[in-house]
Amino acid sequence: MPVIRKIMPTELPQYRAHLLRLDRADRYARFTGTLSDEAVKRHCAAIDWGRTVLLGAFEDGLLRGAVELCGDRILWPEQAEFGISVESVLQGKGVGSTLVRRILTVARNRGIHQVHMMCLAENVRMRALARRFGGRLALDCGEITSLFELPPPNQFSIALEALEDGASAFNSILSGNAILSRLPAARHERLAA
Ligand SMILES: CC(C)(COP(=O)(O)OP(=O)(O)OC[C@H]1O[C@@H](n2cnc3c(N)ncnc32)[C@H](O)[C@@H]1OP(=O)(O)O)[C@@H](O)C(=O)NCCC(=O)NCCS
Repeated sequence: MPVIRKIMPTELPQYRAHLLRLDRADRYARFTGTLSDEAVKRHCAAIDWGRTVLLGAFEDGLLRGAVELCGDRILWPEQAEFGISVESVLQGKGVGSTLVRRILTVARNRGIHQVHMMCLAENVRMRALARRFGGRLALDCGEITSLFELPPPNQFSIALEALEDGASAFNSILSGNAILSRLPAARHERLAA
């Protein structure tokens, strides 16, 4: 299982590289539409880290999966949405499920009551995944929207996030990922290639 941990703002180049590596079908599924390389880069550059949490799945130091949780406390208090992507080499191994489970805990711990996710109607994996975590699915203009209703945070949910953050830090060090992530992006890409 890859190391699942939060992605730091300094690791934005890795997130961008991950999204650009998605094959055509997965990129289409991730953004529910066609997106050029330039548009993917613009998406990454526009991330507002004050209202976004990114969780990543790192394998051998390379970001292979990510979930992006985005909310707006002023315009959309207590609500957020997420988009998720796992590269084809890691699909079907439970990475998507782990990312969704953990991001829902992160959302809950920030007082978010409702999390939305949008996917294509034919996206069987994502629909299965949403159902597994209690998402209420609805068909909306050929796309599926999933609504996750979250309970308020409690001591256990806060402890769980802290525990998993701590375990991820240790696993990162053990896997050498922490060392790689301190290297400049270009050198990191060369080492990981
Ligand atoms: C959707 C996606 C995130 C799932 O990630 P993943 O790591 O493959 O997910 P998991 O391995 O945890 O499996 C998720 C579910 O799909 C099911 N599944 C796995 N392989 C499958 C297959 N070949 N066919 C059908 N279902 C499959 C699993 O059984 C699981 O369902 P369960 O929870 O009921 O057991 C990944 O396929 C992806 O990145 N797709 C492209 C981007 C995308 O579609 N994003 C969603 C919109 S934002």
